[in-house]
Amino acid sequence: MASSSPTEFSWRTLFSKIILISSTLIQHTNGCFTSIISFGDSLADTSNLPLPNFAFPPYGETYFGSPTGRSSDGRLITDFIAQYFGLPLLPPYIGGKSASNRSFLKGVNFAVADATALDVAFFEERGVHTVFTNVSLGVQLGLFTEMLPSLCQTSSDCKELLQSSLILLGEIGGNDYNNPFFARESIEEIQSYVSPVINAIASAINLGARTIMVPGNLPIGCSASYLTLFKSFSTEEYDSETGCLIWLNKFAEYHNELLQIKLNQIQQLNPHITIIYADYYHAAMEFYRSTKEFGFAMRALTSCCGGGGPYNFNRSVECGRQPSTVCNKTADYASWDGLHLTEAAYRWIFRGLFEGPYTIPHIGTLCVPTTPSA
Ligand SMILES: *[C@@H]1O[C@H](CO)[C@@H](O)[C@H](O)[C@H]1NC(C)=O
Ligand SMILES: *[C@@H]1O[C@H](CO)[C@@H](O)[C@H](O)[C@H]1NC(C)=O
Ligand SMILES: *[C@@H]1O[C@H](CO)[C@@H](O)[C@H](O)[C@H]1NC(C)=O
Repeated sequence: MASSSPTEFSWRTLFSKIILISSTLIQHTNGCFTSIISFGDSLADTSNLPLPNFAFPPYGETYFGSPTGRSSDGRLITDFIAQYFGLPLLPPYIGGKSASNRSFLKGVNFAVADATALDVAFFEERGVHTVFTNVSLGVQLGLFTEMLPSLCQTSSDCKELLQSSLILLGEIGGNDYNNPFFARESIEEIQSYVSPVINAIASAINLGARTIMVPGNLPIGCSASYLTLFKSFSTEEYDSETGCLIWLNKFAEYHNELLQIKLNQIQQLNPHITIIYADYYHAAMEFYRSTKEFGFAMRALTSCCGGGGPYNFNRSVECGRQPSTVCNKTADYASWDGLHLTEAAYRWIFRGLFEGPYTIPHIGTLCVPTTPSA
């Protein structure tokens, strides 16, 4: 280790303990799961029903060289997880339907951009018309239940498949709040969605799988979209360290706290399964707090790609559409298009989960080899 870059050095300092603990485990984790089954929204959609602008450059430019339907310049957290376990990048179920279902044996993705945890009906009953897709979490689970028999012959086959799979349940729930926030619904109204959202996520846990990872919400107060739409002249609304909007981050933390309480309850009632909370919030706060150490210079809050303005975000000029502009070096930015993050930021979140302390219980402890001498 001759000269480590400042980025590496800081990361190692930050997580040195965990890296020491987990570095021996990491070698054994490949092959730990035979498949990944993913549900969620645009943070995980690998081209099921991508939004129209995801089909244009510069989406995908960093890793894939062209748009893939992902809401980033490159890989998503889900992609890094698949690669970590030596599995193929998750094929989209809806987007890849023409292929044989056998191609889903090592992984399948049901995540759909704009998807909500709650069904459309929940919002319509409340007169809130801000849902842009009806492929909610419940609908995604229905699609999965429908397709499962095509992957396994007998019920014990199916059980085995589920038990050796890692379920990624989210991130989901963000859009249940994003859409009404952007439509200027009151915070009281939106706050009242949190419990139902948590219940919707919780009711998805009993799929028959043994290992389920459930991510929380990102710090939305650091998102270029929220920073633009809720721009304030009152400096007290901003965290002086990060420049993020405090009240919106508190909202995300409120969701995450309720989610963790619920997950703990379910875990206690179901000791035979392992529910892992993936703390996207604090994994991301690392780079919002220490922008330079993570390589984002002063650009953690401004979008790489967008239609201008103080955070380079303008709802009427989306990334990928004229006359939006794109930064020269995407890895310098955490925010990709104002709503989604860059591959560089997603990689840091992934590393925070797998090498850092941000999975509870730690994902690395699940895959210890069972040989007696280990
Ligand atoms: C969702 O909406 C599409 C088109 O808007 C419709 O064809 C489909 O039947 C709907 N699906 C469900 C589950 O409601
Ligand atoms: C967003 O872009 C539109 C179209 O170019 C422009 O008219 C509008 O002023 C922009 N809004 C902001 C807040 O910059
Ligand atoms: C990208 O680099 C070119 C050439 O150095 C420069 O003219 C341009 O302003 C840069 N664009 C952005 C968005 O920084």
